[in-house]
Amino acid sequence: MFNLSDQIAVVTGSASGIGAACARQLAAAGATVVFADIRFEPESGSSAALPLTAHLDVSDRSSVERLAHTIGERFGRLDILVNAAGIFPRGTLAETTEVLWDHIMAVNLKGMFHCCQTLVPWLSQSPHGPSIVNIGSVNAQGGAQDLLAYSVSKGGVSTLTKNLARALAPARIRVNCVHPGWVLTEGETAVQRATGQPEDWHVRAGAKIPLGRILVPDDIASTVLFLSSPLASQITGQEWTIDGGASLSCN
Ligand SMILES: NC(=O)c1ccc[n+]([C@@H]2O[C@H](COP(=O)([O-])OP(=O)(O)OC[C@H]3O[C@@H](n4cnc5c(N)ncnc54)[C@H](O)[C@@H]3O)[C@@H](O)[C@H]2O)c1
Repeated sequence: MFNLSDQIAVVTGSASGIGAACARQLAAAGATVVFADIRFEPESGSSAALPLTAHLDVSDRSSVERLAHTIGERFGRLDILVNAAGIFPRGTLAETTEVLWDHIMAVNLKGMFHCCQTLVPWLSQSPHGPSIVNIGSVNAQGGAQDLLAYSVSKGGVSTLTKNLARALAPARIRVNCVHPGWVLTEGETAVQRATGQPEDWHVRAGAKIPLGRILVPDDIASTVLFLSSPLASQITGQEWTIDGGASLSCN
C-alpha cells in the first residue's frame, strides 16, 4: 500500500522524536530518505552511505539553501518533504521576551517557509505526485497558558499550509498539515523534566486522553506516511489532528 521505492524524501528534525519516526517509516516504505537536523554534524552530509544525514538549521537561510543545492546536485528532484523541525519552550505573555519570540518564530515558522521555498523547485521536478507535510500542533487550534509564541507559530503553520496548498496545486504539489496532540518524544521529555514534572508525567498525561495513552511518534508518522503516499493523491490543504481524542473532551 505504501510503496515509495524510487522516491526521494527530506525530513527536517529527523534526529529525534516525530521527525525520526517519519523518516524511519518513509524509509521502511522504500523511499530514499535524507535525515536533516541541526544535531547532525556537517561532515556527515557528504557520506555516500544510506540513510543519508545532513546538518540543517532551518532558521538559517544559507543552511537551507545548501541542503536544497545538495538535493538538486545529487538527485535532480525531490518527491516528499516533511517539515518536522521544531522547538517548544514554554512562556506566558509576561515571560516571553522578544528574543524568545523571534527564536521560536525563526525555527517553527520561518524555517518551514525557507524549506518550502528552496525545495519546491526540486519538488516540481517529481514524477510521483509530490507532497509536503508540515508538522503543526493542537496548540494551533486552541489556547494554552504558557505556550504563547509556540502556539502562534503553529497557527502560522496552518495558514502557511493552506496558502501553499492553493498556490502549488497547479504544479500538482500537495501540502498538508498534521497537528499532533501530546506525544512522548525526547524533546517533550526534556521540557517536562525542566519544568519539574515527575518521571511518570507521561502516564498521568495518558490517563487524561480518551484513547487511554499518550501518543508515540509512530502514531504521527503513520499519518504522515499516508499523506505522502499515492493513496492521498487528491488530498491537499487539509489539517489532520492526531491526538487520541483529546480535542473531543469538553473538560
Ligand atoms: N511532542 C509533542 O507533544 C508535540 C506535540 C505537538 C507538536 N509537536 C511538534 O512536532 C515536531 C517535533 O517535535 P518532537 O516532540 O519530536 O521534538 P524533538 O525535540 O524530540 O525533535 C525535534 C527535532 O527538531 C530538531 N531541531 C530543532 N531546531 C532545529 C533547527 N533549527 N533546524 C533543524 N532541526 C532542528 C531537533 O534537533 C530535534 O531533533 C515539532 O515541530 C513540535 O512542535 C510535538
